[in-house]
Amino acid sequence: MRKLAAGNWKMNGLAADLAEIEAIAAGAPEGCEVLICPPATLLARAAAFGLAVGGQDCHAKGAGAHTGDLSAAMLADAGAEYVIVGHSERRADHGETSEEVAAKAQAAQGAGLTAIVCVGETEAERDAGRTLDVVGAQIAASVAGLDPARLVVAYEPVWAIGTGRTPTLEEIAEVHGFLRARVDVPLLYGGSVKPGNAAEIFAVPDVNGALVGGASLKSADFLAIAKALAAA
Ligand code: 13P
Repeated sequence: MRKLAAGNWKMNGLAADLAEIEAIAAGAPEGCEVLICPPATLLARAAAFGLAVGGQDCHAKGAGAHTGDLSAAMLADAGAEYVIVGHSERRADHGETSEEVAAKAQAAQGAGLTAIVCVGETEAERDAGRTLDVVGAQIAASVAGLDPARLVVAYEPVWAIGTGRTPTLEEIAEVHGFLRARVDVPLLYGGSVKPGNAAEIFAVPDVNGALVGGASLKSADFLAIAKALAAA
């Protein structure tokens, strides 16, 4: 399975931060693909450094009266090869359903992009023993009808995002094995991936890379994670 180190900059990054993306492009290891998803305002300038770039969301429609939204074709036009859809922050902040996520992913693939579809349980769902039910329902509804050749799935437990907490390696293995039985595409783990825990996470079966938030903002940290993936 191909390996992908993906950085999600979320709502972070001004022109002054392009130097970090330039350094990531310059230091990217052989042996895995390296992707940065900056804010859309930096997409075209980031793409000029020659590494893969992606959007963080797209609209399901191709064009029209949707003030403030971006179509997949616009992202591709700005140099994107990927787009994240269904991130838990979009599901929570904007009420996106898995059906909407599937429509966005369809639009992304229609514009030639690879869709990174995110799934993951909340802490309450994990505590209630419902992790596989929740992730199973999300994956079934979110990837319906998609082309596996242009699809990546990211497992991001909501409670691990930005908290410094991660599931045990056994818990990651359980969910990734469950996802692998449903989709034959690269599977990323996301949620508090750091240089210090990357290698052990990449050694887990069916983990083909990472979707990294905070640690992707600094080139040294993100490159350390990418190198751990390349070596895995
Ligand atoms: P952190 O790496 O900051 O926990 O964020 C993970 C994430 O949400 C990536 O999409």
